[in-house]
Amino acid sequence: MRNDMELLKEMKKKKIGVLLGGLSEEREISLKTGNAVLGALRSKGYKAVAIDAGRDLAARLASERIEAAFMALHGRYGEDGCVQGLLEVMGIPYTGSGVRSSALCMDKVAAKKMMIFHGVSTPKFCVFREDERGVLAKLPKLPLVVKPVAEGSAIGVSIVRSKAALAAAVDSALRYGGAALAEEFIEGRELTVSILNGRVLPTIEIRPREGFYDFHAKYTKGATGFLVPAPLSALAGKRVAACGLGAYAALGCSGAARVDVMLDANSVPYALEVNTIPGLTELSLFPRAAAAAGLDYPALVEEMLLGAGLNKA
Ligand SMILES: Nc1ncnc2c1ncn2[C@@H]1O[C@H](COP(=O)(O)OP(=O)(O)O)[C@@H](O)[C@H]1O
Ligand SMILES: [Mg+2]
Repeated sequence: MRNDMELLKEMKKKKIGVLLGGLSEEREISLKTGNAVLGALRSKGYKAVAIDAGRDLAARLASERIEAAFMALHGRYGEDGCVQGLLEVMGIPYTGSGVRSSALCMDKVAAKKMMIFHGVSTPKFCVFREDERGVLAKLPKLPLVVKPVAEGSAIGVSIVRSKAALAAAVDSALRYGGAALAEEFIEGRELTVSILNGRVLPTIEIRPREGFYDFHAKYTKGATGFLVPAPLSALAGKRVAACGLGAYAALGCSGAARVDVMLDANSVPYALEVNTIPGLTELSLFPRAAAAAGLDYPALVEEMLLGAGLNKA
């Protein structure tokens, strides 16, 4: 293996494209992530340019002649493997997970199936599709969490405490297309495990002031408290880290990824989902975890860049 200094020197000569914006619902947050990354790369002396990943992305990549891509896209096209596929075809190394891993993580049901196969703990669930809504028999017991299979940012997520409320929750999740996932509600503490190039960073505990970590709690200043590192017993800490790393490995992730985990009253962790392009504004969860591990923001961005490659899972 070549050493990091050599890799770093080589990367400094390259033209780096920060892929940001894009076509998904999460465009605005992606612009914030991308601009923060761009600033950090430039502060470290990299030649970096911003590339808005629109319909003309292939032409832009060709005309800008970038030699490595930093993925700062969230949601559809950017986080789901599509852009990664284009970069593979063009031979441009990129940060984060590969095509298959990105696609699997974007589909919460596919991701849960992989986790179960690999023995990673995840809440019991069933799936509702547009054409088969009557499968109540297989439903885990109440309360339930109902969510779209392929959205992020807690969009379309509801907690269902009675059978009467189920239909409306399924309808609301189905509004985002695809299928609705009904999952056993895990009463407990909300945690997130950040993993960088296979290394587990300190776990963060998320404490919304009221209700759960919904869209409001995520994007309203002061609506949520964060504890870094999460105050966990040695045993719980170990279990949570193993659950996060297990999900990352089961799904074949590379580079940075963040695993959302619930910890129940018996200190049993459950992985909810894996975010393959976590938010990277300076206030986002992933950079907070990195800071707790002694990596400041520019150092984190640089370490992500040095993990860029091709032909990942
Ligand atoms: N099974 C569950 N038990 C308890 N809370 C849940 C469960 N599933 C989701 N939640 C809550 O909803 C939030 C969003 O769900 P998540 O699966 O992380 O989807 P996304 O973040 O992509 O919208 C979680 O952060 C958590 O607060
Ligand atoms: Mg989440």
